Amino acid sequence: MMLVFDGIDGCGKSTHARFVSEYLISKGLDVVFLKEPTVESPAGKILRHALRSGKRPEPEEELHLFVEDRRWDVENRIIPSLNSGKTVVLDRYYYSTVAYQGALGIDLDMIWDMNSFAPKPDIAFILDIEPEEGIKRISRRRNSDYFEELDYLRKVREIFLSMRKMPEVRIIDSSRDRGSVRNDVMKIVDSMLS
Ligand code: TYD
Repeated sequence: MMLVFDGIDGCGKSTHARFVSEYLISKGLDVVFLKEPTVESPAGKILRHALRSGKRPEPEEELHLFVEDRRWDVENRIIPSLNSGKTVVLDRYYYSTVAYQGALGIDLDMIWDMNSFAPKPDIAFILDIEPEEGIKRISRRRNSDYFEELDYLRKVREIFLSMRKMPEVRIIDSSRDRGSVRNDVMKIVDSMLS
């Protein structure tokens, strides 16, 4: 089984991904919790460094790095884990690449195509929140960086929301309190388990 949590910065995806992972472990499942971009692959290292320094690569180069990082993740961790019967929970996946790199003006269909090597998850939760609120939630904890500009995130959010017709996608209103969001997520997870 494979579950993805995605959405704009500050949407709460990491919190809910971690919570669901712990829940699945308590149910006796063998869970692998992964985060993209990774910190292990050569491309992931370049991206993490770029994120920290605020020096963003050119859009095409950035797209290439996110896809290369994912290729590494799929080959080294996702496929082997799924093949050995483990449950994979991912904090960000190709939905982020389509939304974030698509918001830079790169053709969305091309981005989907470039990611066609990557297995499709059973469920992709996209936690939806207004960019203003997302930024507010993050800046309480850390300074906002270049990825977190309002106009940009508005475009990113729009692309995320345009995915609502995909069969595996569940858009969750994440502007509510954490407990209500968690309830919605858990209902879907429980119905998957039964
Ligand atoms: P994020 O999960 O927010 O990392 P952290 O919790 O460590 O801050 O991801 C970092 C940024 O990378 C985020 O702003 C979104 C961006 N990103 C893309 O632009 N494309 C992608 O394909 C992925 C996976 C992430």
